[in-house]
Amino acid sequence: MFSKPNGSPPAAARQRRTLAFRLTAAYTFAGLLLLLLGTVSLYLVLRAELERSTQLFLDDKLHVLRTMLRERPNDEDGLREEIELESAARRYQQFYIRLLDDRGAPILTTPGMAEQLDLAGLANRTRSRPGRSISMAGKNGRPFRIASAPAEVGTPPAHSDTIEIAIDISQEEELLARYRLWFWAILSITSVLFPLAGYRIARHGIRPVEQIAATARRITSTNLRERIGAEGYPSELASLAGTFNEMLDRLEESFERISRFSADIAHDLRTPVNNIRGEAEVALARARTVDEYRDVLESSLEETVRLSELIGDLLFLARAESPLTELRLEKVDAGELLTTVRDYYEASAADAGISLTAVEPARAVTASLDRSLMLRAVSNLVSNAIAHTPEGGSVILAATATGPEMRIEVRDTGSGIPAEALPRVFDRFFRVDPSRSQNSGGTGLGLAIVQSIMTLHGGSAEISSRAGQGTTVTLRIHTAAKR
Ligand SMILES: Nc1ncnc2c1ncn2[C@@H]1O[C@H](COP(=O)(O)OP(=O)(O)OP(=O)(O)O)[C@@H](O)[C@H]1O
Ligand SMILES: [Mg+2]
Repeated sequence: MFSKPNGSPPAAARQRRTLAFRLTAAYTFAGLLLLLLGTVSLYLVLRAELERSTQLFLDDKLHVLRTMLRERPNDEDGLREEIELESAARRYQQFYIRLLDDRGAPILTTPGMAEQLDLAGLANRTRSRPGRSISMAGKNGRPFRIASAPAEVGTPPAHSDTIEIAIDISQEEELLARYRLWFWAILSITSVLFPLAGYRIARHGIRPVEQIAATARRITSTNLRERIGAEGYPSELASLAGTFNEMLDRLEESFERISRFSADIAHDLRTPVNNIRGEAEVALARARTVDEYRDVLESSLEETVRLSELIGDLLFLARAESPLTELRLEKVDAGELLTTVRDYYEASAADAGISLTAVEPARAVTASLDRSLMLRAVSNLVSNAIAHTPEGGSVILAATATGPEMRIEVRDTGSGIPAEALPRVFDRFFRVDPSRSQNSGGTGLGLAIVQSIMTLHGGSAEISSRAGQGTTVTLRIHTAAKR
């Protein structure tokens, strides 16, 4: 059942490694993929937000200036403040504004704009896309975002000026660059951490399976006590361990039964052999008369008969378990079968003062059975019933059929069997009261034989009993069943 402990460890180890490796690879891949998705999408959102806020700033400035030019075309101080002073007051995010007249000549310019930007190039680039902002590098390499728009002067408009705005976006660019740096740093750290963590998780998950395997390896026929302690296992593995432990329970029980059985055989064989030997030794100790020798021989013969019966029973049980055992099936009338058994036991029942009756079935109950085996099974039951029923009691044999099932019942009004012994009466060599049965010749194989005969027929044997009131054994057979 279990693979040999040292059978093929390299193959097993390779398999284990592969499973842990596969799990680790899967965890790592999934972890890195999620991290990548998360950080890249955050980066994209951040960049879009920064661009949006720059655009809003540019739109806002354009709007303010255009409103001023339209509604207060002569408020030169206001314009100057807006264009020349406000930008200078800023510490971060410098911006520059230039106001051009309708011929393209500058009217107002934020101080320092010419040093930062190539103004001719700026005019060329923005002219094609009024209102929309575009990126442009400054003279010293700083990144700028620029926008330009026409602005009507006065209401109704006398002419149209042009506003150009440039905003230094190096802060934003730096922020994004820092983000990218962090991103690569985190990615390289996690690409080492994920496999390590994944490997630990995989090993942790596989450990219970390894423990189950280790327990299985420790188990031998002399060490069936071993069980898997499933505390703390996940439910799937706990149920596997439970199933495994149940299997061990069953194995242990059958092993115990087998070893008890061998001990019982040895004991039951030894007793008659010892008796024969003892009598022979005593007889040979000195010269005996012919009658004395005859007595010894008769008693030896009795013991030998017992021995050969016991051996016969054991052989029968051993053969009945073989899958090759064939039944000699024939159509058997259950009523006739019971009458035969009754006739056979009539005399001994009468001697014991017990009434033995076979109830005639209302209609013929027939089935395809091995007649001699069925005779043996029913005889065993009747012999038990007679042996355990006191004088004045009764034993009743009955056959009934319900649907496809045939039942044979042997009921007695005898001593009954105590409830605690009932589950074991079909066990080989089991006797409720071993000392008493030993004297009366019982070996405890009768019911075991009945049960194996029923198993051979694909049927079953059940017993119900009440101590002091009597016992009923029921044999059930499917009439259509061949075997
Ligand atoms: N009808 C019964 N009434 C009371 N006890 C019973 C009855 N049938 C069986 N038993 C109990 O069950 C035990 C097992 O029965 P079983 O027929 O297997 O063995 P046995 O009669 O002792 O020996 P064997 O039948 O092999 O000669 C008996 O020893 C007896 O104690
Ligand atoms: Mg018996």
